[in-house]
Amino acid sequence: MQIAIDGPAAAGKTSLGRALASRFGCLFVETGKMYRAVALGAERGLPLAEIDLTIDKNGHLFLNGEDVTDLLHTPRLDEASSKVATRREVRERLVDLQRRIAAGQDVVMEGRDIGTVVLPRADVKIFLQASARERALRRARERNAPDVSLTLEELIARDERDRTRDVAPLNPACDATIIDTDRKSLDEVISEAQDLVKERLRER
Ligand code: C5P
Repeated sequence: MQIAIDGPAAAGKTSLGRALASRFGCLFVETGKMYRAVALGAERGLPLAEIDLTIDKNGHLFLNGEDVTDLLHTPRLDEASSKVATRREVRERLVDLQRRIAAGQDVVMEGRDIGTVVLPRADVKIFLQASARERALRRARERNAPDVSLTLEELIARDERDRTRDVAPLNPACDATIIDTDRKSLDEVISEAQDLVKERLRER
């Protein structure tokens, strides 16, 4: 079983992905962490060819053997990761790694291009969306950021870069189910997504 979750920053992909992975016994893979780790490697002066990434079953990410999971979610790497994510050679490396992880096991994978590029034959494809304002409020709350308008500006810049890049731009797959999370609680979104997965399991 492959479940693909895509959508813009702070749309709720991680909370939904974690819940579905636990409910259906799948490995949960946050592909954004990989782009963040490549950006961290670049900051440390590592060329792409010298970057080795691995993840463990708990979703911890190792950069050349070092567990960097707790270093990845900073405003600096928000921006740097979205810049490295425009590079074709970076995407090729990471897409290949993501497909190898997904091969032969049940996964919930979340990112920007999972349903369109990484796992185009995924059993379930979900595209989460929410207004930029709502996403900025959630992100600012999550990070205890005092200035929501700055968070909003950063999110809009990142979305724009993700949507307009030449390689694998952020787009719902044509067979994705779009869930708008603006006026829904997390439980409602999880329940809607679980119904989609159950329906697909019945069809198989
Ligand atoms: O999901 P997250 O915010 O951690 O992702 C960081 C950045 O990595 C995103 O802004 C996006 O530019 C990039 N990304 C991507 N494709 C993915 C996952 C993330 O381009 N599948």
